Amino acid sequence: MKMITNSALIIAIALLSAPISSETTENLQDEEAENSQENASSTPDTPDTPTAPPTTAEIAGGVCAGCHSADGNSVIPMNPNLAGQHAEYITKQLIDFQSADGETPARNSPVMTAMVAALTLENMQDLGTYYAQQEAKPGIVSDDEDLIEQGRILYHGGNIDSGVPACASCHGPTGSGIPPHYPALAGQHATYTLAQLGLFNTGERANDKGVMQKVLARMSAIEKRAVSEYISGLK
Ligand code: HEC
Ligand code: HEC
Repeated sequence: MKMITNSALIIAIALLSAPISSETTENLQDEEAENSQENASSTPDTPDTPTAPPTTAEIAGGVCAGCHSADGNSVIPMNPNLAGQHAEYITKQLIDFQSADGETPARNSPVMTAMVAALTLENMQDLGTYYAQQEAKPGIVSDDEDLIEQGRILYHGGNIDSGVPACASCHGPTGSGIPPHYPALAGQHATYTLAQLGLFNTGERANDKGVMQKVLARMSAIEKRAVSEYISGLK
């Protein structure tokens, strides 16, 4: 069982998930203690176990589910799907979102920086494993066939004229990625993908050792849209 030492996380969980809030569990403990005293003679087998710290599934279900869904298949297109993503990539992103001494973190997202503030490295590794084990649901396929076709050509062949490399060379022909460094893209919300391409382009997301930023410097606006829609339909 993992101990979560940081009280901020406990509070976050308490706020978001009433059934495992510390107040509720304390009350339950009190009740249990009273019950076990009252019933000591009649039910001697009642185990007097201490309340366990929240499990990874409880963190995912209590803190993260509101935006990413409990199984990591987010229903909000701005929030990324996490289901089936590689564990190492997820852990790296969670580390990158963390801010040391209030400084701008390697991956700047105020929402996610607040979410990871109280997580330990072990929590982040366990969350990576948890989401990697969830089954990814297929993404939405756009009915704009010309756009999809343009995205398909770019994804698999790049753009020789402008020097955009084929996405498939790093993210795989089916978008399954190559662990540990190259994330899976298949089925991701087009809205989220397009937003990330924009952030790499402006340098607001710069936790990629410059790799994606170089790719984006060569891409046109229509190419970004086309490839984002194509990726959403990959499985
Ligand atoms: C209030 C909504 C919200 C909550 C709650 C939330 N997230 Fe997020 N998460 C987001 C958004 C929005 C992004 C995209 C950030 C960006 O713009 O780069 C994101 C991005 C991520 C990413 C990066 C995914 C990728 O493909 O690069 C991971 C991993 C992640 N969240 C995990 C978590 C975990 C684990 C928790 C719970 C501890 C959590 N999130 C809670 C909104 C949320
Ligand atoms: C040379 C290798 C390479 C190529 C080519 C490449 N990528 Fe990437 N890509 C990466 C790496 C590495 C990351 C992860 C950066 C990090 O650790 O945050 C990434 C991350 C991404 C992400 C963010 C995923 C997420 O969940 O937030 C998107 C979207 C993406 N790439 C799309 C593309 C597209 C579209 C193309 C083709 C136009 C492409 N990539 C070509 C290496 C590559």
